[in-house]
Amino acid sequence: MCGIVGAASLRNVTPILLEGLKRLEYRGYDSSGLALLSDGQLQREREIGRVAALESLLDKRALKGNLGIAHTRWATHGKPSKLNAHPHLSSASVAVVHNGIIENHEPLRRELKEMGYRFHSETDTEVIAHLFDHSYRQASGEASSARLLKAFRHTLMRLNGAYALGIIHIEHPDRLLCARMGSPLVIGEGSEEHFIASDPLALLQVTDSFIYLEEGDYGILTRDAVDLYEMEGPDPTESEPVTRPIVRYEHGDQVAEKGDYRHFMLKEIHEQPQALKATLEGKVSDEGHLLTSILGPEAETLLANTRQIQIVSCGTSYHAGLVARYWIESIAGLPCSVEVASEFRYREVVVPDDTLFVAISQSGETADTLAALRFAKNAGYLATLAICNVPGSSLVRESSLRLMTNAGPEIGVASTKAFTTQLLALLWLTAALASSRRSGPNTLSTSGLVEEMRAMPRLVEQVLELEPAIAQLATRFADKHHTLFLGRGPHYPVAMEGALKLKEISYIHAEAYAAGELKHGPLALVDDDMPVVTVAPSDDLLEKLKSNLQEVRARGGQLINFVCEQAGLESGEGITNLVLPKVSDILAPILFSVPLQLLSYHVALVKGTDVDKPRNLAKSVTVE
Ligand code: AGP
Repeated sequence: MCGIVGAASLRNVTPILLEGLKRLEYRGYDSSGLALLSDGQLQREREIGRVAALESLLDKRALKGNLGIAHTRWATHGKPSKLNAHPHLSSASVAVVHNGIIENHEPLRRELKEMGYRFHSETDTEVIAHLFDHSYRQASGEASSARLLKAFRHTLMRLNGAYALGIIHIEHPDRLLCARMGSPLVIGEGSEEHFIASDPLALLQVTDSFIYLEEGDYGILTRDAVDLYEMEGPDPTESEPVTRPIVRYEHGDQVAEKGDYRHFMLKEIHEQPQALKATLEGKVSDEGHLLTSILGPEAETLLANTRQIQIVSCGTSYHAGLVARYWIESIAGLPCSVEVASEFRYREVVVPDDTLFVAISQSGETADTLAALRFAKNAGYLATLAICNVPGSSLVRESSLRLMTNAGPEIGVASTKAFTTQLLALLWLTAALASSRRSGPNTLSTSGLVEEMRAMPRLVEQVLELEPAIAQLATRFADKHHTLFLGRGPHYPVAMEGALKLKEISYIHAEAYAAGELKHGPLALVDDDMPVVTVAPSDDLLEKLKSNLQEVRARGGQLINFVCEQAGLESGEGITNLVLPKVSDILAPILFSVPLQLLSYHVALVKGTDVDKPRNLAKSVTVE
């Protein structure tokens, strides 16, 4: 994770770096820092905690400079502390900011110590600073770009792992080095100024023109020029720079504000009716036809030729994939496998003929999902499809087909509107697959499905009205340490998502089980101190689920059931039912996700946790 930003300009870059850091805080928020070159001095400030803490520090000690780098951290190597915060220095000449993980940092650290370098942090990044300093000293000669690049290339060749890097050197007051391998990095082009950042979002206040670095790109930028080279290519002194296109960012500067909401998460929960509408926009014609060409070139033929689906994703996006498996198999009649990306990427995968690879990611920058996609591109899949919320993200740019969720920026670490819009996009994909095959075990027509999807925003609005009742219920969790979530069929992954939400933001241990599995072990945990949350819409499995609930009640378990109007479940001692509007079986997983989000939000309020930035987490997981 971590966010990096850098600038080479004629003006003082401190405000640009600070604003960039604030916009990158979703990538990590345990400490932040910046380093500037001015009047031949390398100056650095670092602070533990949020970017606001660094900003207060800088209010007291105004740092100014035309060249600088900055960083917001999500700790991988070494605890969150001021000493471990970036930038890291070497010999008071080099400053480095890094996003990624250097896997061979231990042998490098030993080697550098033997050379006499002293380490001041526990981070893997500090080896880069010393290694670069050493390489620069070895590459004798005048303080030229050629010497810098030679030393930089030599440094990069020694690193194993993932990195996006920004480096400045005291002898080069107008040169900023950058590199990308496994972690995203863009260059922003201004008027007589250049910038780097982990995400264009960090720079939208100063530019809308970007160069997206390719894997293995490294180079040097000044106010007026950008020279990029490829690690695969020859030495920079013997080759011309490579050309990368300048891309205009056309999605506007969507800086999300909390408005009157207490937290971004609550705002994002309440934005779901609008986000769901936006997700459908452009995907369905006024006459109710699915506009499959929005997926990309030859989408129709590809869908018609698809015989199997492989979904890969992480966390909440993985849960969306698990729900979709039920739809794809029952509605489109296609076999579908779903796997977490961190497992898939290291498995010996057998790819069945005509399999469509689908990667789901809100951010489009999740390291494991991206690695799985990159593997899939050469593994014999029919095509790769990204389902994503961030236009211009690596996942979107690198997939052959794309399906945008259009939920708008999601800031709260706990994913809410991204999840329900992913579900809607996956239902749309299911309908597209079904109609391209014109068959499938389910007789639901495309127009029937479209009607269902269009009804979704209104139904979610009704569910949001349950908030006061859910807030009341949340007080019961004040002294609880463990919770079970139960569901059956597609509501088992909905229960998994509910449990993930609760543990993420309230720090209560929550486990989800397929309700039928209860008696195979977890029932042993149930007693009157254990709230059991069930997702119980009126579908074919409700009667089976009711028997499982009896098993819980018989052991004193406290049931909190989310049910449909027609469920026929009575509230009573140890049983609380929250009644949702009547909904079709197909839409139920989307609708039933919403009260679970509200429940975890209100439990977190009761517990007094930092809802939008829960401990140990970050919004975008760009390390494996
Ligand atoms: C969700 O609440 C999480 N914060 C997390 O599980 C997230 O869904 C996961 O890291 C995947 O992120 P992505 O969708 O951006 O790839």
